[in-house]
Amino acid sequence: MSEYNREPWIRAGRVDEFPEDQAVRLDTTPPVSVFRSGGELFCVDDTCTHEDFSLADGWVEDGTVECPLHLAKFCLRTGAALAAPAYRPLATHEVRVDRADVYVRIARGDDTSSERRCPGTIGSEAGGSRPVGADAGGRDAEGAGHGVA
Ligand code: FES
Repeated sequence: MSEYNREPWIRAGRVDEFPEDQAVRLDTTPPVSVFRSGGELFCVDDTCTHEDFSLADGWVEDGTVECPLHLAKFCLRTGAALAAPAYRPLATHEVRVDRADVYVRIARGDDTSSERRCPGTIGSEAGGSRPVGADAGGRDAEGAGHGVA
């Protein structure tokens, strides 16, 4: 049995159930969504920080998601709010791939620092993604993003 079957890791689905530039909303508390963008998997809170709207229905591109209601934009790696009318970041959650399965661990508490930066848009080196080749043995470093084949 995999170590990821224990709490607090939650199985999100098979890797092939997460298409590129789309999201899958999970029935968790709070609701979170797993996004695939640029070959990486990310997990963030599903609810836009502007108003209550599901980001799983948003436009996903280049590691960001745009809320379809008023077009706020968020970095999937850091949760940073990149465009008004949202100013508060999304909480990010760890993602791991174990063989063909995706697991997430929901962060608890207020982990929504306004100092977050989104790599590629503001110049930060933040983030924890690794290519799938570094995933020998089905384990990987912890991080908000996870590379997949
Ligand atoms: S609800 Fe997302 S931008 Fe307004």
